[in-house]
Amino acid sequence: MIIILFGPPGAGKGTVGTLLSKDLNIPLISTGDILRENVKKGTELGRRAESFMKSGALVPDKIIIRMIKEEILRLEGGFILDGVPRTINQTKILDTVVNNPYQVVYLDAEDDFLINRLSNRRICRDCGRIYHLINIPPKKEGVCDRCGGSLYQRDDDKEEVIRNRLTLFHLKTRPIFDYYQKKNILKTVDASLPLPEIINLIKKNKSDSHKR
Ligand code: AP5
Repeated sequence: MIIILFGPPGAGKGTVGTLLSKDLNIPLISTGDILRENVKKGTELGRRAESFMKSGALVPDKIIIRMIKEEILRLEGGFILDGVPRTINQTKILDTVVNNPYQVVYLDAEDDFLINRLSNRRICRDCGRIYHLINIPPKKEGVCDRCGGSLYQRDDDKEEVIRNRLTLFHLKTRPIFDYYQKKNILKTVDASLPLPEIINLIKKNKSDSHKR
């Protein structure tokens, strides 16, 4: 089973992807997480990606395609994709790499809602768990409930960078919506719903598509 989670910055792709991955017992591939890990380790890939990420720009397709192909070919069973594709070019190349049928879930929300959400996001430096200061706060301020690591705000979660990311989303990534809609494999889910409801809607779509 292959699920592509797609949507604007802050829609909840990482949060929903992590929950679904546990629930369905299939791995989550997050391009943002892979890139951030490479930046942290100072790898060649990380050095090439860092300046794009800091300004909220997209990392060039060539780098993303090579990185994601390696990950996908490594996995034999199903997986969940978070953060790719992000351009029509990535979408078409992905179709040549993924041989099995897949479903696409579009997490939908308005820009103002997303700016508010991302401004309140905090992430554990050690285990990567995602929090929201109001909706999903840690029990102790600044400390991860799961591993005790310290929580930080991503460099690209500053308001002017969030606005750049949203502009790029509308310009480069949103056209993918029409591509998948024409293929009739797209399910739109309201990203502002409570998480258990979002997970149930995605799982229901998965079982309905088996019946089709
Ligand atoms: P990436 O990390 O993929 O960033 P993004 O797409 O902008 O998405 P985010 O991670 O910001 O948001 P999300 O949708 O995962 O939301 P989250 O679950 O955290 O990419 C970062 C950068 O890497 C890009 O800008 C680009 O430079 C580069 N890059 C990555 N992939 C690339 C590609 N394919 N091509 C080119 N460049 C690429 O949730 C947000 C907040 O909301 C959290 O605080 C969470 O707790 C809260 N929340 C989520 N859902 C709910 C809910 N239902 N109810 C209440 N709170 C919720």
